Amino acid sequence: MTDTATAQAAKLLGRARRVVVFTGAGMSAESGVPTFRDALTGLWQRYDPQELATPEAFEADPALVWGWYEWRRAIVARAQPHPGHLAVAAIEAHVPHTLLVTQNVDDLHERAGSTDPLHLHGSLFASRCSACAHPAPTPPADDPTEGRRLPPPRCDRCSAPVRPGVVWFGEGLPQSALEAAAEAAASCEVLLTVGTSGLVYPAAEIPHVAARSGATVIQINPEPTPLDPVCEINLRGPAARVLPALVEAAWGDAG
Ligand code: OAD
Repeated sequence: MTDTATAQAAKLLGRARRVVVFTGAGMSAESGVPTFRDALTGLWQRYDPQELATPEAFEADPALVWGWYEWRRAIVARAQPHPGHLAVAAIEAHVPHTLLVTQNVDDLHERAGSTDPLHLHGSLFASRCSACAHPAPTPPADDPTEGRRLPPPRCDRCSAPVRPGVVWFGEGLPQSALEAAAEAAASCEVLLTVGTSGLVYPAAEIPHVAARSGATVIQINPEPTPLDPVCEINLRGPAARVLPALVEAAWGDAG
């Protein structure tokens, strides 16, 4: 049975011609990929971002940082998209003017059939040279051992260490992706924000841009977030359950 808030959200989504889906780490949580700030399981509860997710950290100890990202990449490589990822791909199929904007560095949206997600914080699968930025092959991540130090490969052009293709603290977001996301948010009718704490800027600005431009912002998250006040509808629940229910209520299929 569909509850009132889901039915209301489904009605708005089903009518919309332009949709933005904005996802964060909670989107992948039920696939077994840890979030950053969840109380018991979040990565930043156990690790210090200053030691692992800054350019200075990589310069100081490249093997520590590369090993940590290899561990995360191995977790993602073993994970599978869940019904919520499939439901996002179904929204894209139903509403051709849908833009998927993700803060996630995994590839679960792509593997669920989403065509071209904008990765605002980069990707675990897009390694590049730390000096000349030349794209580098990302070796297969098959060892999910935590805490392993691993020297990064060397750039085949300039021999500098290869770095993960993610955005670190203190670095700018890819400008064209950020601009495309802001533009889509400013012109959409519905923005669906899923599984993000809404704490990390400038990415967290995207739902605010949509709300200011008159879009309906719908949030899917089991917990309250700082985005609650700009969300017309708050669907409190996990992505793997709420997204398929929403798609089912909007179009009669679960994705
Ligand atoms: P956070 O870890 O900050 O927030 C995860 C959110 O997901 C929280 O609001 C949870 O309540 C929610 N959540 C947990 N399980 C969920 C589920 N099953 N379904 C739906 N929601 C769930 O992750 P982000 O908001 O993505 O940046 O964090 C933003 C950025 O901070 C990340 O991209 C990363 C991090 O530092 C970089 O690496 C640059």
